This record gives sequence, structure tokens and C-alpha cells, in this order.
Amino acid sequence: MAAILVTGGTGYIGSHTCVELIQAGYEVIVLDNLYNSSKVVLDRIQTITGTKPKFYDMDVLDRAGLDRVFAENHIDAVIHFAGYKAVGESVEKPLLYYENNITGSINLYQAMKKAGCKTIVFSSSATVYGDPEKCPITEDSKVGGTTNPYGTSKLMNEKILEDTAKPDPDWSVLLLRYFNPIGAHQSGLLGEVPNGIPNNLVPYIARVANGTLDYLRVFGNDYPTPDGTGVRDYIHVVDLAKGHIGAVEYALHHKGVEHINLGTGIGYSVLDVLHAYEKACGKTLPYKILARRPGDIAECYADASKAKKLLGWSAQYGIDDMCRDSWNFTLKNPNGIE
Ligand code: NAD
Ligand code: UD1
Repeated sequence: MAAILVTGGTGYIGSHTCVELIQAGYEVIVLDNLYNSSKVVLDRIQTITGTKPKFYDMDVLDRAGLDRVFAENHIDAVIHFAGYKAVGESVEKPLLYYENNITGSINLYQAMKKAGCKTIVFSSSATVYGDPEKCPITEDSKVGGTTNPYGTSKLMNEKILEDTAKPDPDWSVLLLRYFNPIGAHQSGLLGEVPNGIPNNLVPYIARVANGTLDYLRVFGNDYPTPDGTGVRDYIHVVDLAKGHIGAVEYALHHKGVEHINLGTGIGYSVLDVLHAYEKACGKTLPYKILARRPGDIAECYADASKAKKLLGWSAQYGIDDMCRDSWNFTLKNPNGIE
């Protein structure tokens, strides 16, 4: 079976993807500098799958280190998750974000080229669509209009990989545009551990549910949506991870560049998610309506038909499953993954 290098493999989406890769029979090599994750994740992957992936505690900014990884292993494809992802922080520290997400990525692509490994699946984001002209969003929709360095770094990575593949037909590049990943592994062993007070909706609700935060701040109820609150395409992280299996399969057997949405195709409002979480945790959760959050858009959900057609993949879990698994993880890991 093929060997896959997973950068950022101890992170939230990366760890779930490692589980699915191992269960599908792939050899998995993880590279992560543990900036936003813990080595304990590797033990948890082993508990779930019976296999502990080979691990490099390494920064993608370490170009010589990357060459060593490719020299020491036969790698058929790379899934590149490693990067910083906090939108607000990226506005405060743009150079840090560009260095990590752009320079780090270019290092990786150069090391791949040198080693003759030209198959890559990249973690992009629906944020590349900016404020979409229409929903559901198809992959041929206009991109651009990103409002922060994080989003711009995703768009730039897409462009860098498109340009890299243009003169060299040996490259196989899958640019996966994730919608809003939430939830956790059903075992309660893997999930998202945000640093400090969460910015994203579901990690915030989870902290209201466990009593760490007092109430949810709903950012605006005057959007042109059914209940006035923002609508997003929330996708179970396990579904998202499974999408990567289809993506790697496809990338290993095709050449060229594809852009693919990974979403469910269904939009839920902030209040829909809050009510689903109330069902999951069995409590009423307090909230207050506040002003809109700067940079937010009214709605964003995927046309997910290309992923189904090309990868044979579609999401299986619904919003109740996502909230149930998030709550289970929150209860079982009050101090995160340690
Ligand atoms: P995460 O922070 O949990 O995982 C990223 C991992 O990369 C972490 O383990 C971190 O330690 C590692 N890392 C960061 N910089 C590194 C470096 N220079 N060298 C080596 N390792 C490094 O984030 P996630 O939610 O799992 O996201 C994974 C990828 O998906 C990221 O590229 C992110 O931008 C992208 N993405 C995430 C979301 C989301 O909502 N979570 C949405 C769209 C796209
Ligand atoms: C945000 C990022 C996006 C990134 C994604 C990762 C912005 C502008 N966009 O998307 O680039 O890829 O996270 O998952 O930051 N909400 C509340 N109260 C809260 C938190 C959120 O009402 O405490 C609302 C928001 O206004 C929005 C929805 O919940 O309508 C989802 O917000 P969030 O989880 O932060 O995701 P996005 O803004 O879609």
C-alpha cells in the first residue's frame, strides 16, 4: 500500500485523517512541530487503529530536515495540513503567518520536487471564495476578496501549486476547500483543542455547555437568512477525514490540478447549531445577540457534487451527530489532549 506523509498530522483534522488512512491500509508518516498539538495524539491514534505512525518532530521551515524525511522514506503522496489557522491572529501577525504558511509550504513543495514525489493533497478553505456571489458555491465560482492573511495564504498556496503543476505534467495536485469542520472522533480520543477562548462557533458553544463560558455571543441576527443569523456548511471532521482517503486515491491515479469542495451542501444557522448542541448536552444554553462580527458573511455552503463525482465521497453525518461527538469529546477531555 502507498506511503503518505501527513504534515500537521497530530492536529485536529490531520489526526482524524491519520486514523482513516491507517484503517484504509496506508502507511502513514507524520511530520509536525507540535506547535498546536500534542505527541499524545500519536498514542491515541494507536489506541484507535492498533498502529502508531512513524513521527518526525519537525518544522516545515526546516528545508534540510524535509530532504532527510524524503531520503529516509519512500513517500508516494503528501497531505499538507501543517500551518497556522487563527484568522484574528493572522491580522495581528501577518509576517508570521506568511512565513509559516507560505515559506513553509514552498519548502515542502521544493523538497517534494527534489525527491520526485509530485502528488499532493492541500488543505485549502472555503475562505478563498471571499463573500460568495451565490450559494451553494461551486468550485468554478470566483475566488479572491480574502479579508485576512490566513485566508490569503490559502489562496496563495493554491496559486503556487497551480503554477508549479503548469509546466510539469507529472504533478498531481488536489486543492481541497473545506467548509466548517466540527465534531470529534466517536471514541472521544481525538478532537479540537482550541488555544484560549475559542473564536469558532462550536468550540465556543462547547465551553458554554461545560460551564467554562457564561453564554454564547451570537454575532448578528439581521442577516438575510431564515432566522437572521449566519449560515454555514458544518461538516463532521470524520467525514472530512474520509474525504481525504478519496482524494489521495484520486491523486495517486491522476495528473493535473483539481479544486474540490468538501462540505455537506447543507447550511445551518448559528441558532440551528445552538439548538442541536442543546439536544446533545441536554441543557438549555444561554445566548445574547450582539453586533455582527467584522469580516463575517451572511451565508456560505457548498455545492458538494464534484467531490461525489470525482472522489466517490459524500458526507454521512448530520448536525446532531456532530454536536453529540463534540460534546462527548468535551466531557472526556476537560483539559484537552494531554
Ligand atoms: P491544527 O492547528 O489543529 O493542525 C495543524 C497542525 O500543523 C498542528 O498540529 C501544528 O502543530 C502543525 N504545524 C503548524 N505549523 C507547522 C510547521 N511550521 N511545521 C510543522 N507543523 C506545523 O489545525 P486543523 O484545524 O487541523 O487544520 C489543518 C489544516 O486545515 C490547516 O492548514 C488549516 O488552515 C486548514 N483548514 C482548517 C479549517 C478548520 O476549520 N479547522 C478550515 C479550513 C482549512
Ligand atoms: C472562520 C474563518 C474562516 C476559517 C474558519 C475555520 C472568519 C471571518 N472566518 O469561518 O476563514 O476557515 O473559521 O473554521 O473568521 N459565531 C457566533 N458566535 C461565536 C462564534 C461564531 O455567532 O462566538 C457565528 C459567526 O458569526 C458565523 C458562524 O458562527 O456566522 C460560524 O463562525 P466560525 O465558527 O467562526 O466560522 P466562520 O466564520 O465561518
